[in-house]
Amino acid sequence: MAGRFKICLIAVCICVLLPALSCLAVTTFEIYEASALNQVIKRNTLIVGMEVKFFPFEYTDADGRPIGFDVDLAKLAAQELGVRIEIKDMEFSGLIPALQGGKIDMIISGMTRTPARAKTVAFTQPYFETGLCALISNKRAPEVSEIGQLNAEGRILAVKLGATGDLVAARLFPKAEVKRFKEETACALEVVSGRADAFIYDKLSIERHHAQNLQTTRAILRPFTYEPYAIAIKSGDFDFLNWLNIFLETIKADGRYQELQKKYFNDL
Ligand code: ARG
Repeated sequence: MAGRFKICLIAVCICVLLPALSCLAVTTFEIYEASALNQVIKRNTLIVGMEVKFFPFEYTDADGRPIGFDVDLAKLAAQELGVRIEIKDMEFSGLIPALQGGKIDMIISGMTRTPARAKTVAFTQPYFETGLCALISNKRAPEVSEIGQLNAEGRILAVKLGATGDLVAARLFPKAEVKRFKEETACALEVVSGRADAFIYDKLSIERHHAQNLQTTRAILRPFTYEPYAIAIKSGDFDFLNWLNIFLETIKADGRYQELQKKYFNDL
């Protein structure tokens, strides 16, 4: 009896459980099929999300067309993939949700890879390294010459909503009041007009706002954080991540990356 029961059990396993399990198992081919790498090639278009308001990485020319370091980088990637490019301009805080919702294949938007963001999206190796700096108001903060002085009662810091400047301000300057604005230009205006002591943002942007407002602002240009910019894609897509890292490594080695640097950063 026991022997028969065993045979029955084995038969059930072979006939029912094994086929059911093999249905559940995902093959490597299916993983590749679902990869953005494969989707992009199939539809012949790479869809890139960015907020086109971040000089010199993404901004617009006189005709309103997106230009900049990131735009050219995205175009190079599309060229290497042999597909067309579509750029979707959207609010910075909407980029990660758009990626997760499948509306874009990747983000190139001067986005810093941080441990917090890397919990929800995957990042490539960095393609640019910089740090946060401060634009200082001559009117409100004439005595401030180093970053630590901003951490004091009564100081007002302007930051761009959802940017790393926003994410670190409360931690690094707990005594100051942090005011959040959607637009980078609004943050700079707060400092220029003397409503805020400082604007905390990425170095090249701070440098530019200072150059445009020499009478009303100063700039502390020694970065006080590490900001590695990287391309973000959906978590779990190792095929696309691998391709993008090979792409970045290749253009850094063959001179195309340096060409872009010359084009956008030479006279900064
Ligand atoms: N590096 C900063 C961050 O990741 C600011 C990026 C802003 N980029 C933009 N396209 N507006 O939060």
